[in-house]
Amino acid sequence: MSSDESRPGPSTPAKKRSRWDAEDHSSEGPQKPVATKRLKSKPPPESQSPASIPSSAPASRQVSVERRRPTHSTYVPPRTLHPPIVPSRSVYCYERLNSIEEGSYGVVFRAREKETGDIVALKKLKLDEEKHGFPITALREINALMTCKHENVVGIREVVVGDTLTQVFIVMDFIEHDLKTLLTVMPSPFLQSEVKTLMLQLLSAVAFCHERWILHRDLKTSNLLMNNRGTIKVADFGLARRYGDPVGVGGLTQLVVTLWYRAPEILLGATTYSTAVDMWSVGCIFAELLLKEPLFQAKNELELISMIFKLLGPPTGTTWPEYSSLPLAKTMNLPAPYPSQLRQKFPYITTAGLDLLSQLLTYDPEQRITAEEALKHPYFSESPYPKHPDLFGSFPSAAAGEKRQKLYKSPSAPARAADYKLLTEFDMP
Ligand SMILES: Nc1ncnc2c1ncn2[C@@H]1O[C@H](COP(=O)(O)OP(=O)(O)OP(=O)(O)O)[C@@H](O)[C@H]1O
Ligand SMILES: [Mg+2]
Repeated sequence: MSSDESRPGPSTPAKKRSRWDAEDHSSEGPQKPVATKRLKSKPPPESQSPASIPSSAPASRQVSVERRRPTHSTYVPPRTLHPPIVPSRSVYCYERLNSIEEGSYGVVFRAREKETGDIVALKKLKLDEEKHGFPITALREINALMTCKHENVVGIREVVVGDTLTQVFIVMDFIEHDLKTLLTVMPSPFLQSEVKTLMLQLLSAVAFCHERWILHRDLKTSNLLMNNRGTIKVADFGLARRYGDPVGVGGLTQLVVTLWYRAPEILLGATTYSTAVDMWSVGCIFAELLLKEPLFQAKNELELISMIFKLLGPPTGTTWPEYSSLPLAKTMNLPAPYPSQLRQKFPYITTAGLDLLSQLLTYDPEQRITAEEALKHPYFSESPYPKHPDLFGSFPSAAAGEKRQKLYKSPSAPARAADYKLLTEFDMP
């Protein structure tokens, strides 16, 4: 069974909803922001920090100084040395407008900030079933968004809290569309000049994240938002992590990247992987922009790997020297070598365009093109040139309307299910 099938259903049980996001909620919340006890506590006044207690205080003040002695170790730096720590604001600073989408890790709402009138998107993190405190995945998502502030990455504004500890929301800039929905409703595919602009934006966001040691690990068209001014914003860092961090026993998890966009090294059980996994997904997105439909619409890992082999030709000792050392390679029966079928699949793209696509969809992660290199690819400097974002047409926003209908069927991001098992018997059908 694929990991995508084993994940729990996406909906948050109604009884666990906060007053803010319950269906019958009135826009008025409590007058005062509600914060958790810990978040509410104010930093100690400066006079209480050890650094501010004079060592030669007059005798008359000795008693009070004694009483004020800090309860923590003097080796702990005083709060005054920390950057200002401000408590999270309440979700009631926002008026809920409509729900946009319910994904695997949270619900996303459109909302208005009461003070400024700004329209924002609030992603409610799914914390209801957490038994071990605040989940690392949520911390990684917030941290990655804060690290990767870029024109083509969705802007995080703040994190707000609801009535209880399980109600935490990420506040982001509201972006009108996601690329997946747009591709579904558009009558014809994007023009070459538009594909170039979108790819340049995506690549510059990915290069920026990779420079900051952040792997996205779930790049796909539904996680690419697009505003009405032709600008793409990479969103959903729910599976992101720092790739320089020490890797635990067993290596990096294989529970990453939504099936259709998953790199072959992950499919074949690699426990160490890097930025190249994102670049494979970028290749799948490039192909999807050209085709107006996902490139590999497989039902499971086995079908996906056979589709990849069919399109690109099976890997060889030259195209992927490390192939045979991958955990699941031994279980595969490779067909006789044959050439890539990419040209037949994309008859209208220029030679340079096809070259970029095949450099992204390269088996060997070591040989796969990096985001930095791809940005300089000749495809972007040949005619037709990338279209200026301002010249993109605008579309009615499904996200700004009533609850969105699922217009497409595609697999979800992998679950964090502990009982996930990798396919052990890979075989070509
Ligand atoms: N800032 C935003 N502005 C507008 N819409 C947004 C925004 N962020 C997310 N969305 C919408 O909500 C959807 C789900 O958001 P996101 O991908 O972050 O959540 P998720 O729970 O991780 O989803 P999934 O696991 O299905 O990818 C997106 O596909 C997009 O349609
Ligand atoms: Mg998503």
